[in-house]
Amino acid sequence: MRKIALLGATGSIGRQALDVIDAHPELELAAAASGSQPVDGLAPFTQVGGDLTELLDRAQPDLVLNAVVGFAGLPATLWALERGVDLALANKESLVAAGGLALAAQERGGGRLLPVDSEHSAAFQCLEGHPPDSVDSLVITASGGPFRGRTRDELEDVTPAEALAHPTWNMGPKITVDSATLANKGLELIEAHFLFALPYDRIEVVVHPSSTVHALVRFRDGAAIAHLGYPDMRVPISYALTYPERAATPIPPLDLASGVTLEFHAPDLDTFPMLSLARDAGERGGTYPCAFNAANEVAVAAFLDGRLPFPAIADVVAEALSAVDGGPARDLEDLVEADAEARRLAERGMAVA
Ligand SMILES: NC(=O)c1ccc[n+]([C@@H]2O[C@H](COP(=O)([O-])OP(=O)(O)OC[C@H]3O[C@@H](n4cnc5c(N)ncnc54)[C@H](OP(=O)(O)O)[C@@H]3O)[C@@H](O)[C@H]2O)c1
Repeated sequence: MRKIALLGATGSIGRQALDVIDAHPELELAAAASGSQPVDGLAPFTQVGGDLTELLDRAQPDLVLNAVVGFAGLPATLWALERGVDLALANKESLVAAGGLALAAQERGGGRLLPVDSEHSAAFQCLEGHPPDSVDSLVITASGGPFRGRTRDELEDVTPAEALAHPTWNMGPKITVDSATLANKGLELIEAHFLFALPYDRIEVVVHPSSTVHALVRFRDGAAIAHLGYPDMRVPISYALTYPERAATPIPPLDLASGVTLEFHAPDLDTFPMLSLARDAGERGGTYPCAFNAANEVAVAAFLDGRLPFPAIADVVAEALSAVDGGPARDLEDLVEADAEARRLAERGMAVA
């Protein structure tokens, strides 16, 4: 039996994880948490909001599936990594904000860090069994979101409802808006840098509208290994929860002859500047990725509230990044401070605009 703590149980990933856990008798839901919605009776240990490490202390799981959205997921990520408890990580924001600290905690703890993000799960599988020096570069794909092909002017008046209509993935509101701005791919770029110890200039993002190829690894001998599948998060969730067994899922096998389209092109960085801002923050390192994430969380919340036009999300983040301190990320306190500073700057930027 594998005792699972599911954090973010009421969300898009959380609900799909419950289906995966239900389908596998060897997976036992030991603990469940949410931010505000009730989770009573879902698991022997439950908690709504507050410090989720208290729940983890009580439940003592074998694996934590962190599917909380945003920086709020960070303490749980560090809790699992520090203790050598396997971590299935959907909460990319925690690795973006605290990549260095998280990897150091994992080294001390010795547990597994299993990516749940579909691109990173795919890359993890393409890389498995290959020595690091055989790897040339990594490619992660982006659907391009609902506004692919539009110009910046055409984005001026888009509404939250339009941004929430994602063409290939059905996800929570924050990540769906992040997909529309390409901030999600920026977060994933930073996440990939930490997960796979690759420098930024060896990680490429390409737009691939059908979301069939999730990632591709180029090797030094000229071979490239790609991971394909229908866009369904139950696949990477199941892979992470049952690793290394690769348990069965109800997803149909990929049917190439029925007309799968493999089309790729470069992202439009002028219309979607969040990807370049993320790459820049990642390359600067220290607390810059944490600040990028925090400013983005504030701007996305304001857009969803109808307080900020869609293109201004990138303006608010760019401005906050140009004003932050950008010091080193030595400990959790540095990050909590950098997160708060970037939030303040982003709020101030919106108040002035
Ligand atoms: N959805 C996807 O397909 C997908 C794919 C790849 C990666 N991810 C990543 O997975 C994470 C979750 O995404 P999602 O789409 O599932 O989001 P979502 O549908 O918005 O769900 C978020 C979950 O987090 C909980 N939560 C929010 N703030 C919390 C807090 N302070 N403490 C405890 N729990 C809190 C929410 O509880 P309440 O319901 O009570 O608010 C909810 O259960 C994100 O980091 C996202 O980037 C998602």
